[in-house]
Amino acid sequence: MEGHKPVLSEETIELLAPHDGGYYLDCTFGGGGHTRLILDTAETRVLALDQDPDAAQRAREFKVQYGERFHFQRRNFADIDQIEEGPFDGILFDFGVSSFQLDQADRGFSFRGDAPLDMRMNPESGEPSAEEWLAKASRPELIEAIKDYGEEKNWRRIVDAVIEARAKTPLHTTKALSELILSCIPAKQCYASKIHPATKAFQGIRIAVNNEIENIEKGLPIAFERLKPNGRLCVISFHSLEDRIAKNLFRLWAGRPAPGDNRPQDMRSRRANLLTRRPTQASDGEIAANSRSRSAKLRALSKAE
Ligand SMILES: C[S@@+](CC[C@H](N)C(=O)[O-])C[C@H]1O[C@@H](n2cnc3c(N)ncnc32)[C@H](O)[C@@H]1O
Repeated sequence: MEGHKPVLSEETIELLAPHDGGYYLDCTFGGGGHTRLILDTAETRVLALDQDPDAAQRAREFKVQYGERFHFQRRNFADIDQIEEGPFDGILFDFGVSSFQLDQADRGFSFRGDAPLDMRMNPESGEPSAEEWLAKASRPELIEAIKDYGEEKNWRRIVDAVIEARAKTPLHTTKALSELILSCIPAKQCYASKIHPATKAFQGIRIAVNNEIENIEKGLPIAFERLKPNGRLCVISFHSLEDRIAKNLFRLWAGRPAPGDNRPQDMRSRRANLLTRRPTQASDGEIAANSRSRSAKLRALSKAE
């Protein structure tokens, strides 16, 4: 397994600006790529979170290497209000799944190979697996997942096919789902596509199964409150819906007009300064070396004093 290459790593470290004595919160530890950079750039301390049991296992190696400078909690970042540590000099979110999760076939995230259809970042959460979710989801829920989260243009056909297929036999495996999706995509589009034709629908179902959008909506505002004055918040997103949440909250905190906020300007307070007017994106070199970085967008702010 090749492991996970942290995206926009130089840009993130430049914006997060870790400094000696600083205390940082990495809300999405994954393979620890960004955490390692924060620990190696200066004499910092890091508290890392991840809901995935395999990430917790990888964190043990960090503990051996970095000792008291590093702590890990297995936790959903939607529940940051339950952590007692902080406040922090910097907080990082790097949304989505890691290459470890995608590459480990038995986690059920990938349309390659054949595995039980799980897709949960935390399989012990008590929440339904992708198989259970697909068996019960209503038509509007399927549409939200495949059309809105997956941005799949053949969503109508795929939703109909899932509803028809599950009436006969449950979708147990990644292969069964992948074949069903492929049967809904015109051959011409399959040949023309640079990505696997099941990529988008799988992404949409994964986002729904893990409540990814709700977790971000809940976690980001709590994280902001855990920043010290002058503390920095960096958010890396991979999907337009994720980026929109960050963009609108950042505008709100920066005292700028955000959608739905019709207050006169003098009623707004500035609680943060934007460090990125537009999101930072990967260079051509990074995209060539790591195709995951193609859709990455990084936004950063500094909390006001
Ligand atoms: C893109 S990876 C992070 C990679 C990491 N920055 C690195 O450099 O190795 C995202 C990680 O966040 C975790 N994750 C996603 N949503 C989460 C949530 N709501 N709570 C906690 N962890 C979450 C996933 O399990 C995954 O390990």
